[in-house]
Amino acid sequence: MQDHLTVVDHPLVQHKLTLMRDKSTPTAVFRQLLREISQLLAYEVTRELEMSVRTIETPLQEMEAPVLAGRKLALISILRAGNGLLDGMLELIPSARVGFVGLYRDEKTLKPVQYYFKVPDQLEKRLSIVVDPMLATGNSSAAAVDLVKQAGAKDIRFLCLLAAPEGVARMKEAHPDVPIVTAALDDRLNDIGYILPGLGDAGDRMFGTK
Ligand code: URA
Repeated sequence: MQDHLTVVDHPLVQHKLTLMRDKSTPTAVFRQLLREISQLLAYEVTRELEMSVRTIETPLQEMEAPVLAGRKLALISILRAGNGLLDGMLELIPSARVGFVGLYRDEKTLKPVQYYFKVPDQLEKRLSIVVDPMLATGNSSAAAVDLVKQAGAKDIRFLCLLAAPEGVARMKEAHPDVPIVTAALDDRLNDIGYILPGLGDAGDRMFGTK
């Protein structure tokens, strides 16, 4: 991927995102929309996957047909909201390996605190896609990517639903080699680190907590 930031401005993505932003959208619908959008974003983030060819026989003749090359890719979810993106992506890429990074945001400092880390082996040979719906301050995302790099990953992309300019800048400074794919670049953060206009707390909206 060439650009550091790709905004997927496809009409289906934008329509679904508007429904998700609407505070009257119920939890079950929010979750379903997230699953659908995650597949459209996954389509974009995997656009340049390495390919090779395999000889197959169609009912009519032999042909050299394109297939994905290399190791299975790794989807790495930043808990807990990242899990909302996983299900849809796994439907599209069922052979992907899955990892989890547990980070919570200290509400006072807004800094990430790690409580869990488990990722697939041989990350150095895989494309790793780190997923979290909200790229807000960028502190958790940058810390998660730090950990994924420490585990060996060399080819990393970051996929989110919404990004704030502050988070994009933080990621660009910390990880200029990690392209970001998002459905929208919003205006700014408020004084408690929420994205404006945003959609609220993504974890709460997908799991029905408060
Ligand atoms: N996390 C969220 O869930 N929402 C925001 O707006 C920012 C961080």
